[in-house]
Amino acid sequence: MKLLRSLLEELEDLLLALQSTRNVTGNKRMPNRRKKKKQLVLKIQMFIEKVLSRLIADPSLVMHTAINLPFLNLLSSNAENTPEGPPWDIKSVLQTGKDKTKKTLSMTTSITIPSACDFHLHLRQDEMMRMVTPKVQEGGVSLAYIMPNLQPPIKTTAEALAYKAELEALAPNVTFYMTLYLSPELTPEEVRKAAKAGIAGVKSYPRGVTTNSESGIENYEVYYPVFKAMEEEGLVLNLHGEIPSDAEKDICVMNAEERFLPQLEKIHRAFPKLKIVLEHATTKAAVDMVKSLGDTVGCSITVHHLQLIVDDWAGQAHHFCKPVAKYPHDRDALRDIVKSGHPRFFLGTDSAPHPIAAKEGPKSNAGVFTTPLVLPYLAKIFEEIGCLDKLENFACHYGRQFYGLSHKQGFEDKKVTLVKESNTVVPAKFEISSTEDLGVVVPFYANKDIGWKITSNFY
Ligand code: DOR
Ligand code: ZN
Repeated sequence: MKLLRSLLEELEDLLLALQSTRNVTGNKRMPNRRKKKKQLVLKIQMFIEKVLSRLIADPSLVMHTAINLPFLNLLSSNAENTPEGPPWDIKSVLQTGKDKTKKTLSMTTSITIPSACDFHLHLRQDEMMRMVTPKVQEGGVSLAYIMPNLQPPIKTTAEALAYKAELEALAPNVTFYMTLYLSPELTPEEVRKAAKAGIAGVKSYPRGVTTNSESGIENYEVYYPVFKAMEEEGLVLNLHGEIPSDAEKDICVMNAEERFLPQLEKIHRAFPKLKIVLEHATTKAAVDMVKSLGDTVGCSITVHHLQLIVDDWAGQAHHFCKPVAKYPHDRDALRDIVKSGHPRFFLGTDSAPHPIAAKEGPKSNAGVFTTPLVLPYLAKIFEEIGCLDKLENFACHYGRQFYGLSHKQGFEDKKVTLVKESNTVVPAKFEISSTEDLGVVVPFYANKDIGWKITSNFY
Protein backbone atom coordinates (compact mmCIF):
# COMPACT_ATOMS: atom_id res chain seq x y z
CA MET A 1 0.00 0.00 0.00
CA LYS A 2 2.83 2.36 0.93
CA LEU A 3 4.65 1.49 -2.27
CA LEU A 4 1.53 2.13 -4.31
CA ARG A 5 0.99 5.51 -2.71
CA SER A 6 4.57 6.62 -3.29
CA LEU A 7 4.36 5.45 -6.90
CA LEU A 8 1.23 7.47 -7.38
CA GLU A 9 2.77 10.54 -5.83
CA GLU A 10 5.74 10.22 -8.11
CA LEU A 11 3.37 9.80 -11.02
CA GLU A 12 1.57 13.01 -10.13
CA ASP A 13 4.89 14.87 -10.16
CA LEU A 14 5.65 13.45 -13.57
CA LEU A 15 2.23 14.44 -14.89
CA LEU A 16 2.73 17.97 -13.60
CA ALA A 17 6.14 18.13 -15.27
CA LEU A 18 4.57 16.91 -18.49
CA GLN A 19 1.88 19.57 -18.19
CA SER A 20 4.55 22.24 -17.86
CA THR A 21 6.28 21.05 -21.06
CA ARG A 22 2.92 21.46 -22.81
CA ASN A 23 2.48 25.01 -21.55
CA VAL A 24 5.63 26.24 -23.25
CA THR A 25 5.16 24.90 -26.73
CA GLY A 26 5.95 28.32 -28.17
CA ASN A 27 9.49 28.08 -26.88
CA LYS A 28 12.32 28.20 -29.42
CA ARG A 29 14.23 25.25 -27.96
CA MET A 30 11.57 22.86 -29.18
CA PRO A 31 13.75 19.79 -29.95
CA ASN A 32 14.95 19.66 -26.34
CA ARG A 33 11.44 20.11 -25.03
CA ARG A 34 10.15 17.42 -27.32
CA LYS A 35 12.88 15.09 -26.14
CA LYS A 36 12.11 15.88 -22.50
CA LYS A 37 8.42 15.36 -23.14
CA LYS A 38 9.08 12.03 -24.82
CA GLN A 39 11.20 10.91 -21.89
CA LEU A 40 8.51 11.98 -19.44
CA VAL A 41 5.79 10.16 -21.34
CA LEU A 42 7.94 7.03 -21.36
CA LYS A 43 8.58 7.30 -17.64
CA ILE A 44 4.90 7.83 -16.97
CA GLN A 45 3.99 4.81 -19.04
CA MET A 46 6.42 2.68 -17.08
CA PHE A 47 5.00 3.95 -13.81
CA ILE A 48 1.46 3.34 -14.86
CA GLU A 49 2.30 -0.17 -15.90
CA LYS A 50 3.82 -0.80 -12.47
CA VAL A 51 0.82 0.66 -10.68
CA LEU A 52 -1.62 -1.20 -12.88
CA SER A 53 -0.03 -4.53 -12.21
CA ARG A 54 -0.48 -3.92 -8.46
CA LEU A 55 -4.05 -2.79 -8.91
CA ILE A 56 -4.89 -5.72 -11.10
CA ALA A 57 -3.55 -8.03 -8.42
CA ASP A 58 -5.78 -6.24 -5.89
CA PRO A 59 -8.35 -3.79 -7.35
CA SER A 60 -9.66 -2.98 -3.87
CA LEU A 61 -6.55 -0.84 -3.41
CA VAL A 62 -8.19 1.77 -5.65
CA MET A 63 -10.86 2.38 -3.03
CA HIS A 64 -8.21 3.05 -0.38
CA THR A 65 -6.19 5.43 -2.49
CA ALA A 66 -6.81 9.02 -1.50
CA ILE A 67 -5.08 10.40 -4.59
CA ASN A 68 -7.61 11.24 -7.23
CA LEU A 69 -6.34 10.68 -10.75
CA PRO A 70 -8.57 10.24 -13.77
CA PHE A 71 -7.14 6.91 -14.77
CA LEU A 72 -7.73 5.56 -11.26
CA ASN A 73 -11.43 6.35 -11.47
CA LEU A 74 -11.51 4.62 -14.77
CA LEU A 75 -9.76 1.65 -13.26
CA SER A 76 -12.21 1.26 -10.44
CA SER A 77 -15.18 1.42 -12.81
CA ASN A 78 -13.71 -1.26 -15.07
CA ALA A 79 -12.02 -3.41 -12.50
CA GLU A 80 -14.53 -6.25 -12.56
CA ASN A 81 -14.71 -6.53 -16.33
CA THR A 82 -12.28 -9.35 -16.85
CA PRO A 83 -10.77 -11.98 -14.61
CA GLU A 84 -7.30 -10.73 -15.51
CA GLY A 85 -8.06 -7.08 -14.88
CA PRO A 86 -9.73 -4.10 -16.48
CA PRO A 87 -9.65 -3.36 -20.22
CA TRP A 88 -8.12 -0.05 -21.19
CA ASP A 89 -5.46 1.50 -23.34
CA ILE A 90 -2.69 3.15 -21.34
CA LYS A 91 -1.64 5.63 -24.02
CA SER A 92 -5.17 6.81 -24.59
CA VAL A 93 -5.80 7.17 -20.86
CA LEU A 94 -2.60 9.16 -20.57
CA GLN A 95 -3.43 11.49 -23.39
CA THR A 96 -7.11 12.04 -22.70
CA GLY A 97 -7.76 10.93 -19.15
CA LYS A 98 -10.38 8.60 -20.62
CA ASP A 99 -10.36 5.18 -22.16
CA LYS A 100 -11.78 5.82 -25.60
CA THR A 101 -10.60 2.74 -27.43
CA LYS A 102 -11.80 0.06 -25.01
CA LYS A 103 -8.94 -2.07 -26.24
CA THR A 104 -8.06 -4.98 -24.00
CA LEU A 105 -4.71 -4.66 -22.28
CA SER A 106 -3.57 -8.23 -22.15
CA MET A 107 -1.40 -8.88 -19.12
CA THR A 108 1.10 -11.56 -20.01
CA THR A 109 1.23 -14.11 -17.24
CA SER A 110 3.07 -16.94 -18.95
CA ILE A 111 5.51 -17.30 -21.85
CA THR A 112 6.92 -20.29 -23.67
CA ILE A 113 10.10 -19.79 -25.68
CA PRO A 114 12.97 -21.96 -26.90
CA SER A 115 15.68 -22.57 -24.31
CA ALA A 116 18.20 -19.73 -24.32
CA CYS A 117 21.73 -19.34 -25.69
CA ASP A 118 24.26 -17.64 -23.45
CA PHE A 119 27.14 -16.31 -25.52
CA HIS A 120 29.42 -15.34 -22.63
CA LEU A 121 29.70 -17.55 -19.60
CA HIS A 122 32.28 -18.27 -16.89
CA LEU A 123 31.97 -21.78 -15.51
CA ARG A 124 35.31 -21.83 -13.62
CA GLN A 125 37.07 -25.05 -12.55
CA ASP A 126 37.14 -27.59 -9.69
CA GLU A 127 34.44 -27.31 -7.01
CA MET A 128 33.08 -24.01 -8.31
CA MET A 129 32.67 -25.56 -11.77
CA ARG A 130 30.88 -28.57 -10.28
CA MET A 131 28.40 -26.30 -8.50
CA VAL A 132 27.81 -23.81 -11.32
CA THR A 133 27.66 -25.98 -14.45
CA PRO A 134 24.44 -27.88 -13.67
CA LYS A 135 22.80 -24.52 -13.00
CA VAL A 136 23.13 -23.52 -16.66
CA GLN A 137 20.12 -25.68 -17.51
CA GLU A 138 18.24 -24.53 -14.39
CA GLY A 139 18.42 -20.98 -15.74
CA GLY A 140 16.81 -22.07 -19.01
CA VAL A 141 20.03 -22.05 -21.07
CA SER A 142 20.81 -24.89 -23.49
CA LEU A 143 23.74 -23.46 -25.45
CA ALA A 144 26.69 -21.94 -23.64
CA TYR A 145 29.74 -20.15 -25.00
CA ILE A 146 32.52 -20.62 -22.47
CA MET A 147 35.19 -18.16 -21.39
CA PRO A 148 38.81 -19.37 -21.08
CA ASN A 149 40.11 -17.24 -18.16
CA LEU A 150 40.83 -20.15 -15.85
CA GLN A 151 43.96 -20.45 -13.75
CA PRO A 152 46.02 -21.08 -15.84
CA PRO A 153 44.07 -19.82 -18.87
CA ILE A 154 42.89 -22.20 -21.62
CA LYS A 155 45.41 -21.53 -24.38
CA THR A 156 45.46 -24.67 -26.53
CA THR A 157 42.97 -26.79 -28.42
CA ALA A 158 43.82 -29.78 -26.25
CA GLU A 159 43.11 -27.84 -23.03
CA ALA A 160 39.83 -26.52 -24.42
CA LEU A 161 38.65 -29.99 -25.42
CA ALA A 162 39.56 -31.44 -22.01
CA TYR A 163 37.65 -28.62 -20.32
CA LYS A 164 34.67 -29.18 -22.62
CA ALA A 165 34.55 -32.87 -21.68
CA GLU A 166 34.43 -31.95 -17.98
CA LEU A 167 31.57 -29.52 -18.59
CA GLU A 168 29.62 -31.99 -20.73
CA ALA A 169 29.84 -34.61 -17.99
CA LEU A 170 28.31 -32.11 -15.55
CA ALA A 171 25.57 -30.84 -17.91
CA PRO A 172 24.85 -33.44 -20.61
CA ASN A 173 21.84 -31.55 -22.00
CA VAL A 174 23.78 -28.37 -22.71
CA THR A 175 25.68 -27.68 -25.94
CA PHE A 176 29.06 -26.13 -25.15
CA TYR A 177 31.17 -23.99 -27.43
CA MET A 178 34.73 -23.30 -26.33
CA THR A 179 37.15 -20.39 -26.69
CA LEU A 180 40.92 -19.95 -26.42
CA TYR A 181 42.68 -17.21 -24.48
CA LEU A 182 44.53 -14.82 -26.79
CA SER A 183 48.21 -14.80 -25.84
CA PRO A 184 51.61 -15.02 -27.56
CA GLU A 185 51.35 -18.82 -27.47
CA LEU A 186 48.41 -18.71 -29.90
CA THR A 187 49.86 -19.18 -33.38
CA PRO A 188 48.08 -19.24 -36.76
CA GLU A 189 48.76 -23.02 -36.81
CA GLU A 190 47.02 -23.47 -33.47
CA VAL A 191 44.08 -21.41 -34.80
CA ARG A 192 43.71 -23.84 -37.73
CA LYS A 193 43.92 -26.81 -35.39
CA ALA A 194 41.31 -25.21 -33.10
CA ALA A 195 38.94 -24.59 -36.00
CA LYS A 196 39.12 -28.25 -37.03
CA ALA A 197 38.35 -29.31 -33.46
CA GLY A 198 35.21 -27.12 -33.35
CA ILE A 199 36.60 -24.40 -31.07
CA ALA A 200 34.39 -21.40 -31.80
CA GLY A 201 36.38 -18.34 -30.81
CA VAL A 202 39.30 -16.56 -29.23
CA LYS A 203 38.87 -14.28 -26.25
CA SER A 204 41.01 -11.21 -25.85
CA TYR A 205 41.50 -9.59 -22.44
CA PRO A 206 43.44 -6.34 -22.17
CA ARG A 207 46.19 -6.88 -19.62
CA GLY A 208 45.19 -6.42 -16.01
CA VAL A 209 41.65 -5.10 -16.42
CA THR A 210 39.75 -8.01 -14.89
CA THR A 211 39.81 -11.51 -13.34
CA ASN A 212 42.80 -13.60 -14.54
CA SER A 213 43.87 -11.11 -17.20
CA GLU A 214 47.52 -10.86 -16.09
CA SER A 215 48.64 -12.47 -19.35
CA GLY A 216 46.32 -10.33 -21.47
CA ILE A 217 46.92 -8.09 -24.47
CA GLU A 218 48.91 -4.88 -24.63
CA ASN A 219 49.22 -4.45 -28.38
CA TYR A 220 46.71 -5.82 -30.90
CA GLU A 221 48.79 -5.40 -34.03
CA VAL A 222 51.21 -8.16 -33.07
CA TYR A 223 48.22 -10.51 -33.30
CA TYR A 224 47.28 -9.60 -36.86
CA PRO A 225 48.66 -12.88 -38.28
CA VAL A 226 46.48 -14.72 -35.76
CA PHE A 227 43.43 -12.60 -36.67
CA LYS A 228 44.10 -13.33 -40.33
CA ALA A 229 44.06 -17.08 -39.66
CA MET A 230 40.87 -16.66 -37.59
CA GLU A 231 39.22 -14.73 -40.41
CA GLU A 232 40.11 -17.51 -42.85
CA GLU A 233 39.02 -20.31 -40.53
CA GLY A 234 35.79 -18.63 -39.33
CA LEU A 235 36.77 -18.29 -35.66
CA VAL A 236 35.17 -15.41 -33.78
CA LEU A 237 37.20 -12.75 -31.96
CA ASN A 238 35.61 -11.98 -28.58
CA LEU A 239 36.81 -8.65 -27.26
CA HIS A 240 36.78 -7.52 -23.68
CA GLY A 241 36.44 -3.90 -24.71
CA GLU A 242 38.29 -1.85 -22.12
CA ILE A 243 41.69 -0.23 -21.94
CA PRO A 244 43.69 -0.26 -18.70
CA SER A 245 43.18 2.64 -16.29
CA ASP A 246 45.81 5.36 -16.43
CA ALA A 247 45.38 8.36 -14.15
CA GLU A 248 47.77 10.50 -16.17
CA LYS A 249 45.64 10.04 -19.26
CA ASP A 250 42.41 10.46 -17.27
CA ILE A 251 41.38 6.86 -17.99
CA CYS A 252 39.39 5.00 -15.37
CA VAL A 253 36.64 2.39 -15.21
CA MET A 254 34.03 4.92 -16.30
CA ASN A 255 35.60 5.71 -19.69
CA ALA A 256 37.72 2.58 -20.27
CA GLU A 257 35.16 1.06 -22.66
CA GLU A 258 34.52 4.18 -24.69
CA ARG A 259 38.29 4.71 -25.10
CA PHE A 260 38.63 1.15 -26.39
CA LEU A 261 36.15 1.60 -29.26
CA PRO A 262 38.59 3.03 -31.84
CA GLN A 263 40.54 -0.21 -31.40
CA LEU A 264 37.43 -2.25 -32.26
CA GLU A 265 36.91 -0.15 -35.36
CA LYS A 266 40.55 -0.51 -36.37
CA ILE A 267 40.52 -4.32 -36.13
CA HIS A 268 37.23 -4.47 -38.03
CA ARG A 269 38.60 -2.27 -40.84
CA ALA A 270 41.74 -4.42 -41.04
CA PHE A 271 39.74 -7.70 -41.06
CA PRO A 272 36.27 -6.92 -42.41
CA LYS A 273 35.36 -10.60 -42.75
CA LEU A 274 36.50 -11.55 -39.25
CA LYS A 275 33.52 -11.97 -36.94
CA ILE A 276 34.07 -9.81 -33.87
CA VAL A 277 31.90 -9.60 -30.77
CA LEU A 278 32.24 -6.63 -28.47
CA GLU A 279 31.51 -8.36 -25.17
CA HIS A 280 29.26 -7.08 -22.37
CA ALA A 281 28.67 -3.57 -23.77
CA THR A 282 27.88 -0.98 -21.14
CA THR A 283 27.76 2.36 -22.94
CA LYS A 284 25.75 4.28 -25.49
CA ALA A 285 29.04 4.89 -27.30
CA ALA A 286 29.56 1.13 -27.65
CA VAL A 287 26.02 0.56 -28.92
CA ASP A 288 26.42 3.36 -31.47
CA MET A 289 29.81 2.06 -32.59
CA VAL A 290 28.62 -1.54 -33.10
CA LYS A 291 25.54 -0.31 -34.95
CA SER A 292 27.72 1.75 -37.26
CA LEU A 293 30.02 -1.15 -38.20
CA GLY A 294 29.40 -3.97 -40.66
CA ASP A 295 27.43 -7.17 -40.26
CA THR A 296 30.47 -9.07 -39.01
CA VAL A 297 30.45 -7.09 -35.76
CA GLY A 298 28.09 -8.18 -32.98
CA CYS A 299 27.63 -7.25 -29.35
CA SER A 300 26.73 -9.25 -26.26
CA ILE A 301 24.63 -7.69 -23.50
CA THR A 302 24.40 -9.04 -19.96
CA VAL A 303 21.39 -9.37 -17.69
CA HIS A 304 22.93 -7.13 -15.06
CA HIS A 305 23.93 -4.29 -17.38
CA LEU A 306 20.31 -4.01 -18.49
CA GLN A 307 19.44 -3.41 -14.86
CA LEU A 308 22.29 -1.58 -13.09
CA ILE A 309 23.85 1.87 -13.19
CA VAL A 310 26.95 3.19 -11.41
CA ASP A 311 25.02 4.03 -8.22
CA ASP A 312 24.07 0.36 -7.86
CA TRP A 313 27.63 -0.96 -7.64
CA ALA A 314 29.25 1.95 -5.78
CA GLY A 315 28.96 0.47 -2.27
CA GLN A 316 27.44 -2.87 -3.36
CA ALA A 317 30.17 -5.43 -4.02
CA HIS A 318 27.81 -8.01 -5.53
CA HIS A 319 26.97 -5.58 -8.32
CA PHE A 320 30.61 -4.86 -9.11
CA CYS A 321 31.73 -6.31 -12.44
CA LYS A 322 33.97 -5.36 -15.35
CA PRO A 323 33.17 -3.37 -17.31
CA VAL A 324 31.30 -1.52 -14.57
CA ALA A 325 27.72 -0.39 -15.10
CA LYS A 326 27.69 3.23 -16.26
CA TYR A 327 25.29 6.19 -16.48
CA PRO A 328 21.48 6.05 -16.73
CA HIS A 329 21.70 7.19 -20.37
CA ASP A 330 24.04 4.28 -21.10
CA ARG A 331 21.63 1.79 -19.57
CA ASP A 332 18.85 3.43 -21.60
CA ALA A 333 20.89 2.86 -24.76
CA LEU A 334 21.25 -0.86 -23.93
CA ARG A 335 17.55 -1.11 -23.21
CA ASP A 336 16.64 0.79 -26.36
CA ILE A 337 18.73 -1.40 -28.63
CA VAL A 338 17.21 -4.53 -27.11
CA LYS A 339 13.74 -3.02 -27.46
CA SER A 340 14.43 -2.22 -31.08
CA GLY A 341 15.16 -5.90 -31.76
CA HIS A 342 18.50 -5.28 -33.46
CA PRO A 343 19.80 -8.72 -34.56
CA ARG A 344 23.47 -8.02 -33.83
CA PHE A 345 22.80 -7.45 -30.11
CA PHE A 346 22.22 -10.63 -28.15
CA LEU A 347 22.50 -12.33 -24.78
CA GLY A 348 25.89 -13.02 -23.22
CA THR A 349 25.40 -13.03 -19.46
CA ASP A 350 29.05 -12.80 -18.35
CA SER A 351 27.79 -14.64 -15.28
CA ALA A 352 30.97 -14.77 -13.19
CA PRO A 353 30.74 -16.45 -9.78
CA HIS A 354 33.18 -15.62 -7.00
CA PRO A 355 33.17 -16.87 -3.39
CA ILE A 356 31.57 -14.38 -1.04
CA ALA A 357 34.92 -13.75 0.66
CA ALA A 358 36.41 -12.58 -2.65
CA LYS A 359 33.44 -10.28 -3.29
CA GLU A 360 33.17 -8.79 0.17
CA GLY A 361 36.91 -8.73 0.96
CA PRO A 362 39.19 -5.67 1.01
CA LYS A 363 39.28 -5.63 -2.82
CA SER A 364 36.17 -6.95 -4.50
CA ASN A 365 36.55 -9.35 -7.43
CA ALA A 366 34.59 -8.31 -10.51
CA GLY A 367 31.62 -10.49 -11.44
CA VAL A 368 27.87 -10.90 -11.08
CA PHE A 369 26.39 -14.40 -10.81
CA THR A 370 23.20 -14.84 -12.85
CA THR A 371 23.41 -18.39 -14.23
CA PRO A 372 20.78 -20.14 -12.04
CA LEU A 373 18.00 -17.71 -13.03
CA VAL A 374 18.94 -16.25 -16.40
CA LEU A 375 15.51 -16.42 -18.03
CA PRO A 376 13.49 -15.35 -14.97
CA TYR A 377 15.75 -12.29 -14.55
CA LEU A 378 15.33 -11.45 -18.22
CA ALA A 379 11.55 -11.89 -18.10
CA LYS A 380 11.41 -9.46 -15.18
CA ILE A 381 13.59 -6.87 -16.90
CA PHE A 382 11.98 -7.17 -20.34
CA GLU A 383 8.53 -6.90 -18.79
CA GLU A 384 9.55 -3.83 -16.80
CA ILE A 385 10.95 -2.07 -19.83
CA GLY A 386 7.91 -3.06 -21.87
CA CYS A 387 9.36 -5.46 -24.44
CA LEU A 388 8.63 -9.00 -23.31
CA ASP A 389 7.93 -9.75 -26.97
CA LYS A 390 11.63 -9.10 -27.76
CA LEU A 391 12.94 -11.59 -25.21
CA GLU A 392 12.89 -14.65 -27.46
CA ASN A 393 14.97 -13.20 -30.28
CA PHE A 394 17.44 -11.59 -27.90
CA ALA A 395 17.96 -14.66 -25.73
CA CYS A 396 17.39 -17.53 -28.15
CA HIS A 397 17.95 -16.59 -31.80
CA TYR A 398 20.08 -13.54 -32.57
CA GLY A 399 23.30 -14.86 -30.99
CA ARG A 400 23.06 -18.21 -32.71
CA GLN A 401 22.30 -16.49 -36.01
CA PHE A 402 25.31 -14.22 -35.68
CA TYR A 403 27.67 -17.08 -34.81
CA GLY A 404 26.04 -19.55 -37.19
CA LEU A 405 26.06 -22.21 -34.48
CA SER A 406 23.55 -24.90 -33.63
CA HIS A 407 22.63 -27.18 -30.74
CA LYS A 408 24.08 -30.65 -30.61
CA GLN A 409 21.96 -33.35 -32.14
CA GLY A 410 18.80 -34.18 -30.26
CA PHE A 411 18.75 -30.89 -28.34
CA GLU A 412 17.66 -28.52 -31.11
CA ASP A 413 14.18 -27.59 -29.99
CA LYS A 414 13.97 -27.64 -26.21
CA LYS A 415 11.42 -25.24 -24.77
CA VAL A 416 11.05 -23.33 -21.51
CA THR A 417 7.86 -22.03 -19.93
CA LEU A 418 8.01 -19.09 -17.55
CA VAL A 419 5.17 -18.00 -15.36
CA LYS A 420 4.63 -14.69 -13.64
CA GLU A 421 4.29 -15.34 -9.94
CA SER A 422 4.88 -13.00 -7.05
CA ASN A 423 7.02 -14.19 -4.14
CA THR A 424 9.50 -15.76 -6.52
CA VAL A 425 12.47 -14.90 -4.36
CA VAL A 426 16.09 -15.32 -5.49
CA PRO A 427 18.03 -17.56 -3.05
CA ALA A 428 20.32 -15.73 -0.61
CA LYS A 429 23.30 -17.90 -1.58
CA PHE A 430 24.58 -21.08 -3.21
CA GLU A 431 27.01 -23.35 -1.30
CA ILE A 432 30.11 -23.97 -3.43
CA SER A 433 30.59 -27.50 -2.08
CA SER A 434 28.22 -29.84 -0.28
CA THR A 435 31.08 -31.66 1.46
CA GLU A 436 33.76 -29.03 2.21
CA ASP A 437 33.37 -25.56 3.63
CA LEU A 438 34.35 -23.48 0.60
CA GLY A 439 31.95 -20.65 1.26
CA VAL A 440 29.01 -19.49 -0.83
CA VAL A 441 28.25 -17.49 -3.95
CA VAL A 442 25.70 -14.73 -3.68
CA PRO A 443 23.54 -14.48 -6.82
CA PHE A 444 22.32 -11.33 -8.52
CA TYR A 445 19.28 -9.89 -6.73
CA ALA A 446 19.67 -12.24 -3.75
CA ASN A 447 16.56 -12.29 -1.54
CA LYS A 448 14.59 -10.16 -4.02
CA ASP A 449 11.25 -11.08 -5.54
CA ILE A 450 11.79 -11.23 -9.29
CA GLY A 451 8.20 -12.18 -10.04
CA TRP A 452 8.93 -14.77 -12.75
CA LYS A 453 9.82 -18.43 -12.53
CA ILE A 454 10.48 -21.35 -14.82
CA THR A 455 7.73 -23.94 -14.49
CA SER A 456 8.77 -26.32 -17.31
CA ASN A 457 12.32 -26.55 -18.52
CA PHE A 458 13.93 -28.30 -21.48
CA TYR A 459 10.84 -30.10 -22.77
O1 DOR B 1 32.98 -8.95 -14.13
C1 DOR B 1 33.72 -9.71 -14.74
N1 DOR B 1 34.06 -10.90 -14.25
N2 DOR B 1 34.20 -9.32 -15.93
C2 DOR B 1 35.12 -10.04 -16.58
O2 DOR B 1 35.56 -9.62 -17.61
C3 DOR B 1 35.66 -11.28 -15.99
C4 DOR B 1 34.73 -11.87 -15.06
C5 DOR B 1 35.36 -12.95 -14.22
O3 DOR B 1 35.96 -13.86 -14.78
O4 DOR B 1 35.24 -12.91 -12.99
ZN1 ZN C 1 33.45 -12.38 -18.91
